[in-house]
Amino acid sequence: MDAPKEIFLKDYTKPDYYFETVDLSFSLGEEKTIVSSLIKVSPRVQGSSAPLVLDGHDLKLLSVKVEGKLLKEGDYQLDSRHLTLPSLPAKESFVLEIDTEIYPHKNTSLDGLYKSSGNFCTQCEAEGFRKITFYQDRPDIMAKYTCRVEADKSLYPVLLSNGNLISQGDIEGGRHFALWEDPFKKPCYLFALVAGQLASRDDTFTTRSGREVSLKIWTPAEDLPKTAHAMYSLKAAMKWDEDVFGLEYDLDLFNIVAVPDFNMGAMENKSLNIFNSKLVLASPETATDADYAAILGVIGHEYFHNWTGNRVTCRDWFQLSLKEGLTVFRDQEFSSDMGSRTVKRIADVSKLRIYQFPQDAGPMAHPVRPHSYIKMDNFYTGKFLFAKGAEVVRMYKTLLGSEGFRKGIDLYFQRHDEQAVTCEDFFAAMRDANSADFANFLQWYSQAGTPVVKVASSYNAEARTFSLKFSQEIPPTPGQPTKEATFIPVVVGLLDSSGKDITLSSVYHDGTLQTISSSSTILRVTKKEEEFVFSDIAERPVPSLFRGFSAPVRVETDLSDDDLFFLLAHDSDEFNRWEAGQVLARKLMLNLVSDFQQNRPLVLNPKFIQGLGSVLSDSTLDKEFIAKAITLPGEGEIMDMMAVADPDAVHAVRKFVRKQLASELKTELLKIVENNRSTEAYVFDHPNMARRALKNTALAYLASLEDPSYVELALSEYKLATNLTDQFAALAALAQNRGKTRDNVLADFYNKWQGDYLVVNKWFLLQSSSDIPGNVENVTKLLDHPAFDLRNPNKAMNFHAKDGSGYKFLGDIVVQLDKINPQVASRMVSAFSRWKRYDETRQALAKAQLEMIMSANGLSENVFEIASKSLA
Ligand code: ARG
Ligand code: ZN
Repeated sequence: MDAPKEIFLKDYTKPDYYFETVDLSFSLGEEKTIVSSLIKVSPRVQGSSAPLVLDGHDLKLLSVKVEGKLLKEGDYQLDSRHLTLPSLPAKESFVLEIDTEIYPHKNTSLDGLYKSSGNFCTQCEAEGFRKITFYQDRPDIMAKYTCRVEADKSLYPVLLSNGNLISQGDIEGGRHFALWEDPFKKPCYLFALVAGQLASRDDTFTTRSGREVSLKIWTPAEDLPKTAHAMYSLKAAMKWDEDVFGLEYDLDLFNIVAVPDFNMGAMENKSLNIFNSKLVLASPETATDADYAAILGVIGHEYFHNWTGNRVTCRDWFQLSLKEGLTVFRDQEFSSDMGSRTVKRIADVSKLRIYQFPQDAGPMAHPVRPHSYIKMDNFYTGKFLFAKGAEVVRMYKTLLGSEGFRKGIDLYFQRHDEQAVTCEDFFAAMRDANSADFANFLQWYSQAGTPVVKVASSYNAEARTFSLKFSQEIPPTPGQPTKEATFIPVVVGLLDSSGKDITLSSVYHDGTLQTISSSSTILRVTKKEEEFVFSDIAERPVPSLFRGFSAPVRVETDLSDDDLFFLLAHDSDEFNRWEAGQVLARKLMLNLVSDFQQNRPLVLNPKFIQGLGSVLSDSTLDKEFIAKAITLPGEGEIMDMMAVADPDAVHAVRKFVRKQLASELKTELLKIVENNRSTEAYVFDHPNMARRALKNTALAYLASLEDPSYVELALSEYKLATNLTDQFAALAALAQNRGKTRDNVLADFYNKWQGDYLVVNKWFLLQSSSDIPGNVENVTKLLDHPAFDLRNPNKAMNFHAKDGSGYKFLGDIVVQLDKINPQVASRMVSAFSRWKRYDETRQALAKAQLEMIMSANGLSENVFEIASKSLA
């Protein structure tokens, strides 16, 4: 293998050649597939003598023709990654024809053209198209495509590609063909092909301008009943994008295909979205509320890409957030509008804290727009990593309001339809449409690391002023030792002693007095240090800062515990009520961790129990909000706040706090379980999901007590459940504790569901992510389970076992898996990336595994990048 090469944003140059049209032809076969491409090429500069360099990986070149003339071996250069054509006709345009042979049945990487359960399918983002044919595999090459697919008719009755079906028919030898034409220019990463035995759920959607769009969701025939929710989600998304952004679908056909083998969630190929089946298939008995919500969000996400990503795409992969940050923001908004805004915001912020903040503090930290990469795939690994880009988009909306934001979006499409553009182009559209002053906002795109904002408050009774002093600092990240200040919008409200918002009249800042007249305002924090002074404040207020999480930062305030309990009870911003509870919980858990480390007895502050208790019994609150409010921050979040992470102490403390809460609040918790049962048919809507969420959170608390009567209760919930949400929650509640009940109920669940691989995957995941003692051993046994498939591995587990068994287990899997699927293997190595945060024993054990991985033969670029950066 050639040494892995790092690619830099600063080296971007325009392509020397553009491709205008691309006519592809696939002859699909069991042993080999022949791909023919006919490309109309035009030089960017007339008379250019530049060579044309095409990307190609794992391809067998059959022939190259230029203007119909076959090239001989000396007329081109071929290496393991490129096909170079040094001398080309000095014409305005010329025709290039290339034939290649590929072997999809041997392609286990799930990248390029591969087979999933007997069907052919593709995944080309980011750089998979080069595994199909030689091409300039970069998103700024936008061309119009046709695609002819030919295959055995009985094995592959359905033949799909992008755009409209132009013709189809039978040919000799039991074969048939379909010819597809996509009228819109697109980069090759949006190309898709599917061939196989599939059936479709059909529906239609009439756009607001009256175009009737045919909608098809394709799966194996037996799964069709499970596609109703996906179809509902698609239609809801189409309607929402019209209502909120004025964006209408642009073709007469929209296809979604569900496949069981897929590296990520889904892919937005033009008019032919391909999905991991778990994000399409759902029935009340086989999918949980979380699955239903994820399907809604991801179907929306891929659909929304049709405008944000496909019609306007990225100039280069460094701009990934241009489409992903924006589209994640759009799907978040969609889900908010379909359910509860506060609850959705809480869920998104939690994910940001659990996945993005740690990444931003580790060896793979990179800005929203990275400066370099070795393997682009690595920027897609890990869950929810576009979250920060989505937060950046959200800040525009916070600053501009809904209308101003919409104006910016409109201008963006007016300027850039069918272009490949950059993050600055998006910024410029937002700015110009609103004549906005965005100060140093662009720093968000170029600096890695999570800003830490400290806030100090003081009240001056005599002057009746209230001052907030902000200071911001962004910690160093690899390659970026020092940082500039960035523009941080801080949405603030001030609570009076009755808990009501004070109507703000004016704020003094930087020598100017700004009048306001509302209960909250946006402070524009743009410097390392600055002060804002509110006037005409009659009593010392309690500030509610960063309402709705107005910027993706870590906040440290000087608020007392009493202030935080006050916010938890009164803040008009529901998000900040939750946040106050979380801040209190984090503080309290950290203190308990140090008690634990110093062998002091653990005691839970009764005020905390009371605070959560009153949220629990507040019937005016949304039930799902209550469920979130009584859920403690995760172990990772607490470890994140420690100089040396101590997994044992954090685990013990979280367990202790949960049990204390459960025991002190058991009467209320039991009431909740009893009052929120339902035997009615499953309904996917917010009130029902909220009810189930609250009941199941309460049940998990009770079951943690290991009291026989609650174990009985959970068992009966398990048996009486009429849907998977309730049944799986009861299973998880019972699986918290080691013992016979756990073993029995896990066995029962497997017996019941062994025929459904999606449910079985959940069963694996529940066990692999369990924190019961000795779990590494359990998980090792599961590897031999007949239903386990290494190509579909579950990565979560009690990884930090002190004897290093978790590290060794994972290290071995990474090396095995890298040979099959580098994208999934590198996602697993990421689990090691923060090894330096642990004690010396763990550090040594984890480092040894990273070194072992680095020394493996034939390591992929994917794994190389993560492992080497982690060791650096
Ligand atoms: N663009 C895709 C999405 O928005 C993510 C990339 C999928 N990549 C993959 N290797 N499957 O969902
Ligand atoms: Zn996306």
